[in-house]
Amino acid sequence: MNAVPDMIQLSARVRRIKPSPSMVARDRARQLQAQGRDIVDLTAGEPDFDTPAHIQEAVGKAMAAGETRYTPVNGTSALRKAIVAKLARENGVRYELNQISVGSGAKQVIYNALAATVGDGDEVIIPAPYWVSYPDMVLACDATPVVVRCGENNGFKLSADALESAITPRTRWVILNAPCNPTGAFYSEAEMRALTDVLLRHPHVALMTDDIYEHIRFDDGAPVCPAAIEPQLMDRILLVNGVSKTYAMTGFRLGYGAGPKALIAAMNTIQSQSTSCTSSLSQAAATAALEGDQSFVAEARQAYRERRDRAVALLNEIPGLSCRPPEGAFYVYPSCAGLIGKRTPSGTVLETDSDVLMYFLEHAGVAMVDGSAYGLSPYLRMSIATSLPQIEEGCRRVKEACEALR
Ligand SMILES: Cc1ncc(COP(=O)(O)O)c(C=O)c1O
Repeated sequence: MNAVPDMIQLSARVRRIKPSPSMVARDRARQLQAQGRDIVDLTAGEPDFDTPAHIQEAVGKAMAAGETRYTPVNGTSALRKAIVAKLARENGVRYELNQISVGSGAKQVIYNALAATVGDGDEVIIPAPYWVSYPDMVLACDATPVVVRCGENNGFKLSADALESAITPRTRWVILNAPCNPTGAFYSEAEMRALTDVLLRHPHVALMTDDIYEHIRFDDGAPVCPAAIEPQLMDRILLVNGVSKTYAMTGFRLGYGAGPKALIAAMNTIQSQSTSCTSSLSQAAATAALEGDQSFVAEARQAYRERRDRAVALLNEIPGLSCRPPEGAFYVYPSCAGLIGKRTPSGTVLETDSDVLMYFLEHAGVAMVDGSAYGLSPYLRMSIATSLPQIEEGCRRVKEACEALR
């Protein structure tokens, strides 16, 4: 953090949290590139495709139509209607317009939900590996993240038994992200039902599902939506989604939550005192994304599938790495357990996945994110939201670097 003049006291809140490690890794790769280093950047958390043309055009049309003012706090009614229709069509769940809150990215929606519901003494269950922001958001809201490690032998998934043992009288939420960033793990309907059965027995616990990668699934299976599987939980589920990953719209900053009216109203109150509303132009673009031609979604999925297959095959040829094929999202999460304890050509012993990450960066010019950022080591997260030649070059360099270890 930059030096702050003495007069300005930092809050306990900000001292409790850290900048997003994936963003730090991305910035480090970009800085090295700016210094002229040849870096293969495999840190990206966003699609490398252009936003589809019809979505771009919707922005121009909205501007020309004068849609350049504040919108309602919870989003335009056109967008909320498009979201309600999408959730009924694709997820089999029915919501009313006042059960939807549109925010500046799924990230803000999750933050709003936590800010509106948790505080000192409350616990939030987070299966690890997790998206880097959940624990820090919980901490920023004065509550305690309860991290449950979900090992590779269980497909990196939360089991019903592990969930049951993590619940205490202070548990307020369980956050489930599937397909998961970083592992791509996805819950079958039976696995999800086992989890919803546990929640039925604990009426004080709510479920937040982060579905941001729902369309990046490699088995082409139907969505698994807990609110559709177990309608009795409908009044304690917050479904979070957005357009960032599905439609290559990360810079638009647009996400949404669907849930019980009182929760959505409270999230809107938080938003009304922070950002007021999401950009009107992003809302017009998201409406076009949800209502328009969906062919981009299948094309992108096919490209990610080819990249996943190639990346997994190449990584599994590298001594010391082993990679399980992810079921979705655009990352692979190879174990680097076989490299721990090895010595680099300059004599350093690799003790952690962060050491491995730094060795690959320094020695091979390949940037990734370390598993410790996601709560489960020793792993590395490699993004496949980049071209096949980049993935192949990255793996070639990593292989050479691994072969140079003793
Ligand atoms: C699991 C997960 N949830 C939420 C987000 C944030 O999405 P948005 O761009 O809609 O804020 C990300 C972005 O990396 C993510 O990986």
